[in-house]
Amino acid sequence: MTEKKKAGGLAGVVAGQTALCTVGKEGAGLTYRGYDIYDLADNASFEEVAYLLLHGKLPSRAELDGYIANIKSLRSLPDALKTVLEMVPAGTHPMDVLRTGVSFLGNIEPEGDFSNQAGVADRLLACLPSILLYWHRFHADGVRIETTTDDDSIAGHFLHLLHGEAPPELVRKSLDTTLILYAEHEFNASTFAGRVITGTLSDMHSAVVGAIGALRGPLHGGANEAAMELIQKFDSPDAATAGIHAMLERKDLIMGFGHRVYTTSDPRNALNKRMSKALADRAGDTLLFPVSEAIEKVMWDEKRLFANADFYAATVYHFMGVPTYLFTPIFVCSRITGWAAHIMEQRADNKLIRPAAEYIGPSLREWVAIDDR
Ligand code: COA
Repeated sequence: MTEKKKAGGLAGVVAGQTALCTVGKEGAGLTYRGYDIYDLADNASFEEVAYLLLHGKLPSRAELDGYIANIKSLRSLPDALKTVLEMVPAGTHPMDVLRTGVSFLGNIEPEGDFSNQAGVADRLLACLPSILLYWHRFHADGVRIETTTDDDSIAGHFLHLLHGEAPPELVRKSLDTTLILYAEHEFNASTFAGRVITGTLSDMHSAVVGAIGALRGPLHGGANEAAMELIQKFDSPDAATAGIHAMLERKDLIMGFGHRVYTTSDPRNALNKRMSKALADRAGDTLLFPVSEAIEKVMWDEKRLFANADFYAATVYHFMGVPTYLFTPIFVCSRITGWAAHIMEQRADNKLIRPAAEYIGPSLREWVAIDDR
């Protein structure tokens, strides 16, 4: 295999610098601005992590209180955006709704020059759940919800808008933790797409719209929805074991497994699995969690492939009563922090991102007039 082939999909290619995150780095693992993901998941709130990513340091108590108050104040939607969301058809995938919502927000609240980029990031962080759940509740339940709540946390706010009431603490905390785990992941496909768009000196809404489009696909963020559909196909762990063997024989891709950078495990998986078990016990589940474990065992035994962050996140969300089609949009509500931080980092030392291609087409040939072809 040539060096060029090995770099297919830019695997292993260092495409730039970042101070935001390490992924699978020896001796460091997954870190956000130098903090270990396990420390953040155990001790921080998602808002603290958002502040860390966007402002470069952990907030003091006063800074965090001010930050939370600001995010809370940015949750309402302009009437014109609500009208657009009502017009987006009920059968639309919610990732496409978010793409349209962010794009339209960029029409009515354009970024202009980049002097308020942190303010644009905060606005998006605050109102993505509002965009998603205003559309969802309008079409699913026929109600026009108020998109502001008293919940301090984005996790509590999200579940409140979805279910119409504040969530139990275990459920809120679990969503909060998955938001922390999904917040940032170096030069993943959607972040890189956002940086490429930013590199042309385009606006933040455009970069986020492009990132949402990249995240939507099942090889990236869409894997959590595909994993849920897979888990729900089986009515017992034995059926799952047999079914996954058959899929592997057919060379099917098993969603929620494997990773471009990690080779032996995804550090986020242990935390997601622990939350999935706690929520399964709370829900009295005796099927989906054991089926998930059966799938995980076959994948490791047969392929040495491990569950990535999306596999157990699927049942975490399912046990919270989140409809499957809202799983990847939750990823957006979290990753907006990483995307925005990368957009700002790219702008701080911008260079147009324009790689070269190896040409594999025909060599120079003579023009043939149309009647002679
Ligand atoms: N199910 C079955 N086989 C898998 C697999 C999976 N989920 N992931 C990788 N493999 C196999 C590939 O088929 C390939 O086998 P081969 O060498 O016999 O052709 C080998 O493992 C290497 O995989 P490759 O596709 O080259 O790795 P990649 O770095 O290009 O892809 C992913 C990484 C994440 C795209 C890939 O693992 C995948 O498609 N996973 C499922 C989707 C998913 O969960 N995405 C979320 C990622 S966080």
